[in-house]
Formats: sequence, structure tokens, C-alpha cells
Amino acid sequence: MAVAAIELSTWLESELRSDQAGETGAVWIYRGVLATKPQRALRQFCLQHLATEQQHLAEMNALLAPQARSVLLPIWRVAGFLTGFLPACLGERAVYLTVAAVETFVQSHYQQQIMHAELNRYPKIKEKLAAFMQDEIEHKDEAISLAGGPPGAWAKRWCALVGVGSEVAVKLARRM
Ligand SMILES: [Fe+2]
Ligand SMILES: [Fe+2]
Repeated sequence: MAVAAIELSTWLESELRSDQAGETGAVWIYRGVLATKPQRALRQFCLQHLATEQQHLAEMNALLAPQARSVLLPIWRVAGFLTGFLPACLGERAVYLTVAAVETFVQSHYQQQIMHAELNRYPKIKEKLAAFMQDEIEHKDEAISLAGGPPGAWAKRWCALVGVGSEVAVKLARRM
């Protein structure tokens, strides 16, 4: 459902800027993994997730005018690529744990927006964000089930870093 040509409040424009940046990063995570030429199962996982993230990004692009998007998009692309590429060099379990960490963050990010009273002024956008969040929850659950157990000590540190990095990225993307 297209929700174009809506006059956005300053709050919503800044939130959508962080969402558009995040969905850009998500697309590049899977491009980063795919650049390592993963085996069939991981490749299929990435291609399916990539298609959903590209759809999310296209819908975000329809909501947010090019001049309102983050000026740091080139950085979000590189950061996303490395967030996929680096764990993929270690193996598929590292990728699944990374995706689970990213999607855990994204779920709470969308949840916060959905619960914000201001969003009630934009019911169609709220509905869209709720649908995106549902996709991200499915991505997270799928990644957790494929990871085959909780992260070990090093993976925990990496996942914490991914969480902090995502938080910093959102804060920056809201502003610029
Ligand atoms: Fe997404
Ligand atoms: Fe996702």
C-alpha cells in the first residue's frame, strides 16, 4: 500500500530517516554475506531475507523524499556490508547469530516507534511499521533456530558490538 505525499512531522521524518538508513544497512548485510559465496543453505537464507529487506527499503524510499534521507548513507552501506561479510568469513553460525542480534535491535526499534503516541496521527505508516516489525521478528526467530544454540563468549561480544553499533547508527541517522 503506497503512503506517499504525506506531510510528516519533524519527529516522524527523523524516525523514518533512521528506518530508511536501517533498511539500507539490512540490504547490505546480505550483500556482504553473499559476497563470500556461501554454501547453498546460507545463500538461500540470504536471498530470501534480502528480498524482504529490499521490499522494506523500497517502501521506506516511497515515504521519505531523497532530500530527507540520511547524508551518511554511504557509511550505512559499508557498515551493513561489513556486518554481513565479517561473520560470513567465520562461518554460517556467526552469520545467523549476527542476524539474530541485528533483528533483536530492529524489533525493539520499530516497537518503540509503534508505541509512540505521535504515530497515531499516521495510522497507515503505523500499520506499515507493524508489518515490517513482524517480518523482522520472523527473520530473528529463523536466525535463532538456525544458529543452533546461544552465542559463546566471543560471539556474545560481537553481538553486543552489533547492538551498540546499531544504536549509534540510529542516533546519527535521526539527526543527519
Ligand atoms: Fe527490514
Ligand atoms: Fe529483517
